[in-house]
Amino acid sequence: MEELIQVEAVAKSYGKHQVHRDLSLSIRQGECFTLLGPSGCGKTVLLRLIAGFEAPDAGRISIGGRVVSDPAGGVDVSPDRRGLGMVFQDYAVWPHMTVFDNVAYPLKIAKMSRQELTDRVMETIAMVGMAGLEKRLPSELSGGQQQRVALARALAARPSLLLLDEPLTNLDANLREEMRFEIRELQRKLDTTVLYVTHDQEVALALSDRLAVMDETGRIRQTGSPWEIFERPADPFVFNFMGTANFLPVRREGDDWLVGGGVQKISAPPKIDLSPGSSPASGLLYAVGFRPSDVRIAQPGAEVGLRGIVRRASFLGAMMDYLVEVDGATLRTAIETHEALSGGLMFRDGDSCVVSFLDLHWFDAEKLTGVVEL
Ligand SMILES: Nc1ncnc2c1ncn2[C@@H]1O[C@H](COP(=O)(O)OP(=O)(O)O)[C@@H](O)[C@H]1O
Ligand SMILES: [Mg+2]
Repeated sequence: MEELIQVEAVAKSYGKHQVHRDLSLSIRQGECFTLLGPSGCGKTVLLRLIAGFEAPDAGRISIGGRVVSDPAGGVDVSPDRRGLGMVFQDYAVWPHMTVFDNVAYPLKIAKMSRQELTDRVMETIAMVGMAGLEKRLPSELSGGQQQRVALARALAARPSLLLLDEPLTNLDANLREEMRFEIRELQRKLDTTVLYVTHDQEVALALSDRLAVMDETGRIRQTGSPWEIFERPADPFVFNFMGTANFLPVRREGDDWLVGGGVQKISAPPKIDLSPGSSPASGLLYAVGFRPSDVRIAQPGAEVGLRGIVRRASFLGAMMDYLVEVDGATLRTAIETHEALSGGLMFRDGDSCVVSFLDLHWFDAEKLTGVVEL
């Protein structure tokens, strides 16, 4: 597939604060690509670099094969010549202009002829589900409708690339969910490329063809499809960032893999490289990572697994949330309340139980540094 955006070895600092260093990324024509990372990791800065509102200190950015930023080569194409549409989190619509005029604005700047402009504006307003509201002022619209106007304005000029910076953050949960499906549909309908920035894992999974996960230092930890990121996390950071995560320390003793500080065994890791020298015979070596939903909890003696003690039982309505201690390590499990009721699995604090796992991710324990304390 052809690449639309290429970011190569980009660096950007503000004073002494280095936000990006050696950042590379490529986005394919026609895809919805999400940049996902914690707040403050440099997502907006990267979008502004791509849009041309900021210039990188080093590196190169190309859009559609044309170099638009290259400090070493003296290239810095202005934002209005990059063929982009943008919606920012706080990118308010103009309050004194009607919906029509808001959406028409970029087309007027581009000096589109009157008839063509009217047709285009009406078409775009209909596309975001706002037909009939052209004459309203933003003050006569809900937050979600205003967001649609911002989206329509960004789409009006039919940009080859749409940059969306947390455009749903200020909406309530229901609207957010609805809008993300609509953005996805618009993207397909217009066959445009979307670069979407968010700190919300769920939005990123639901929306993207591919996503890149950034850590708090602005480093990209993994790029892949939502499935790859969720099911094949490259490291503990990605695993932890994508949802509630448990990590249990596992140490190797002889041929056995023992959990926590005890002597209970867990089956050997699937394919971990035990290169000589790098793996002492004993000591903390690995951590297994798993989601609460990937733990099965049972009555003691009911099945094979690790013996543990329920330290905290929380009723969350649809779910029972148990904090279980296994040989000094704790983990969280989630089980549907009706299943817990019918299966005799309503535990109380201090009850014994047995846990087993549906899915385990093995990580080098060293890589947990800075992610979680074991
Ligand atoms: N114009 C600026 N001047 C100085 N520091 C900035 C500027 N813009 C962003 N930063 C800093 O860069 C870092 C990344 O910011 P930002 O890209 O906005 O993060 P986010 O991932 O939340 O969008 C933050 O520490 C922020 O304070
Ligand atoms: Mg931001």
